[in-house]
Amino acid sequence: PTIYVLNGPNLNLLGTRQPEIYGHETLRDVERLCMDTALSLGMLISFHQSNHEGELVELIHKARTEAAAVVINPAAYTHTSVAIRDALAACDCPIFEVHISNVHKREEFRHHSYVSGIATGVIAGLGVHGYVAAITAAYSQISHATT
Ligand code: DQA
Repeated sequence: PTIYVLNGPNLNLLGTRQPEIYGHETLRDVERLCMDTALSLGMLISFHQSNHEGELVELIHKARTEAAAVVINPAAYTHTSVAIRDALAACDCPIFEVHISNVHKREEFRHHSYVSGIATGVIAGLGVHGYVAAITAAYSQISHATT
């Protein structure tokens, strides 16, 4: 099975962008971490980042037919995008929302997510380990679904 791991705007700057909030690992490091986690569980990863809302919507449409689960860090679109929520709601597979930082202890505008209401699970504040936790959770959901 393939898990889509999708990353929203500005996450291409990971490692250099506000490292006191987001840490020092780069997006390449996160991709490697996701690949290693998935491989150790016998799964594949399709990893993407986009700064464009419409492109993320189209990636979610691809995930609809190709993915056994979606792990998504929608970044700033978490707090603004009905389009991304609707695209995710059209997926039948489990959806895991990941935030590197604990959005709930940050600015008020980060406390609301358009995605959480349709997500299977939400992870925030675990740093890049949140991706590992989401992939591991996806694995157990997928294996429960098929056994
Ligand atoms: C983020 C939190 C968002 O509020 C922010 O806009 C991001 C990253 C996180 O991973 O902590 O870009 O999703």
